[in-house]
Amino acid sequence: MASKLSDVARTLVAPGKGILAAGETPGTLTKRFEALGIHSTPDTRRAYREMLFGAYGASEFISGVILQDETIRQQASGGLPFARMLTELGILPGIKVDAGAKPLAGSPGETVTEGLDGLRERLAEYRKMGARFTKWRAVLRIDGDRLPTRACIHANSHALARYAALAQEADMVPIVEPEVLMEGAHDLARSDEVTSEVLQEVFRELFVEDVQLECLLLKPSMVIPGSRSSEKASQLEVAAATLRCLLRHVPAAVPGVVFLSGGQSPELATAHLDTINRLQWPAPWTVSFSYGRALQDPALERWGGHKDRAEAGAQALIHRARCNSAAALGAYSPAMEEGQDGIRMPNAAQPATLDH
Ligand code: G3H
Repeated sequence: MASKLSDVARTLVAPGKGILAAGETPGTLTKRFEALGIHSTPDTRRAYREMLFGAYGASEFISGVILQDETIRQQASGGLPFARMLTELGILPGIKVDAGAKPLAGSPGETVTEGLDGLRERLAEYRKMGARFTKWRAVLRIDGDRLPTRACIHANSHALARYAALAQEADMVPIVEPEVLMEGAHDLARSDEVTSEVLQEVFRELFVEDVQLECLLLKPSMVIPGSRSSEKASQLEVAAATLRCLLRHVPAAVPGVVFLSGGQSPELATAHLDTINRLQWPAPWTVSFSYGRALQDPALERWGGHKDRAEAGAQALIHRARCNSAAALGAYSPAMEEGQDGIRMPNAAQPATLDH
């Protein structure tokens, strides 16, 4: 397994591989369980994570898994701690280390992600438990021309950079996640404008904090119209706007860009990633996935909290992981979805050849 930080970062974005984001807090996972009538206890959450992490063949498509504080302290039923189980399966264990988005003083409707207090000590403990990489999520909300404010972009970018410096000091790769929420009525152009401003500020702060770009991954949202927008953008328009924005604001030294899914359907998140990777523009970084809901949702539904459906749940995860692995190579085909219960067919992915 990779030892140097830059090797760990490159291992996470090895060709055709991506990350399973499973760092939901117990509160967030409880909400997802309850929506499906699943009782949420430390043990049902443990069983769910064991079903995901133990899915047969996952390491062919999944390079790393983002855990959460509760999960990294839990063990699989065979007695192995989850971080150790993943390592033995050839998957790098990672850990979400932020303390969540909290109201930003003086700016109603906006948040700043907290968790820097005591972070050095927590990182040292997670490293001892076997974690090789970390994640911190900042949240930016668009509301017309009003939000996000300059203060919100700056406060979140500064926190991301301070976190990233501490993670590297603790010998772990930081995943820097500035999420521009899809929630909202904004159009593609406004999403582009805000994502550009956010990325520019994030990399400025990373530079100020002397963070090594070769030893981190960026986890951005795609440039996409808001979920309440009347604008309908094609897969090619989303892919082109997203890649153009990244090319303008993400330095070439960064080894990988791993998208979040942000509320897109599992199939659309796959199709968008595939289309981005089919664009004939030379991207200096690997472009892959670090999906949460877009990888987990079909597995969670199939499992439904029933022990005897763990295999069906695991297969649903493997299916989405295989599709996203293909998309990370620009080799996904909607035909891959055939025969999957309850999975809708996205529009056919075409080779994308838009000009800059
Ligand atoms: O923090 C959010 C996760 O890292 C990504 O989750 O793919 O469901 O947006 P998502």
